[in-house]
Amino acid sequence: MNKAILITGGAGFIGSHVIRKFVLSYPDYQIINLDKLTYAGNLENLNDVEHQDNYQFIKGDIEDSKLVDNLFVEYSIKGVIHLAAESHVDRSISDPLSFIQTNVLGTVNLLNAAVQNWHAQTDCLFYHISTDEVYGSITAPDLFTESTTYDPNSPYSASKASSDHFVRAYYNTYKLPVLISNCSNNYGPCQFPEKLIPVCINNIINKKPLPVYGKGENVRDWLYVEDHVAAIDLLFHQGKVGETYNIGGDNQFKNIDLVNLLCQIMDQKLDRSGSEHLIEFVTDRPGHDLRYAIDSSKIQDELGWRPSLDLKEGLDKTVDWYLENEDWLEHVTSGQYQTYYQEQYFNR
Ligand code: NAD
Ligand code: DAU
Repeated sequence: MNKAILITGGAGFIGSHVIRKFVLSYPDYQIINLDKLTYAGNLENLNDVEHQDNYQFIKGDIEDSKLVDNLFVEYSIKGVIHLAAESHVDRSISDPLSFIQTNVLGTVNLLNAAVQNWHAQTDCLFYHISTDEVYGSITAPDLFTESTTYDPNSPYSASKASSDHFVRAYYNTYKLPVLISNCSNNYGPCQFPEKLIPVCINNIINKKPLPVYGKGENVRDWLYVEDHVAAIDLLFHQGKVGETYNIGGDNQFKNIDLVNLLCQIMDQKLDRSGSEHLIEFVTDRPGHDLRYAIDSSKIQDELGWRPSLDLKEGLDKTVDWYLENEDWLEHVTSGQYQTYYQEQYFNR
């Protein structure tokens, strides 16, 4: 194996798809997955690749500087794909500090290890995975470009914006070879059922209320997770060092339209009708951004990336996966998670 890559947050939703792609597509890479296994990390997501020779899991915190430094030295890490984060906006409203700890301090800790261990090497890359939420809300028909001013509105997006600024600062100050991508809302297999789509899939299966915040007028730009992974793969290998790239699905939907579409798809698959009657309009999220919409022409023009699925096709695949993996849903929604989940959605 000729190159060791550290992937952080590889037991989470997007990270597990990234790990699978890199482990299976690049047998010459040694893939090290560093994950703390918070409520959002689940090694079940990686059952099919855990025995591959080029894969190694390390349970640990990205804030642990000694551990991170040891990993850089022991494996001679040449690339980092940094996904570990606290990722859920609602949780950031009830517990902002843990977002600063992981998303800001954890990122700076990884950057420090890269600076200390890479010196002036040019064949290394620190690739930071970020979000379109750093840009705040945008009115139609405008789109977020790579030069849109940062304007984060939630503790989550403020912490991600801060981490992006540190990554860019380390490029300018220490000449660390970095790359950043800012992506829109992902969905697909293995997404923890606290995010809109898996919450609704789980609740439709169990005939429970579908909580739609406010009037459901908020717009998100949805991207199937495998399409995000294809973009990450391209950028890691062909992206320009020091640059930012926006990634989006070109699939803008109002939440209420998305939930109605999901009800139709699931009713058809479950041979039922009327799931839309489960929709309940609930108290809005504080500081709720009205609209996100991405212009991804830079990655499209420079690297030829395109999203391969529209929302209907992606939801179809996603629903099939959840229906075939009800035991996964059962595991992640049982115990401590169920308490938080119920508190969050039904007791306000
Ligand atoms: P997730 O919540 O599903 O997974 C996060 C993973 O990070 C988990 O496995 C968790 O155990 C791990 N983790 C958390 N804190 C850690 C720590 N201190 N040390 C080590 N590991 C830790 O998140 P996701 O939705 O897969 O998002 C992954 C990344 O992509 C995040 O950086 C997020 O900001 C970004 N992103 C997500 C989306 C989306 O729609 N989900 C869109 C754009 C960008
Ligand atoms: O835009 C990228 C971001 O997308 C990522 O950076 C975040 O990590 C990811 O969590 C996601 O953030 P959102 O807040 O957009 O995703 P969420 O699934 O929580 O909510 C999507 C929309 O649906 C949002 O407008 C809030 C609304 N919503 C959400 C939930 C969980 C509801 O109406 N009801 C719900 O129960």
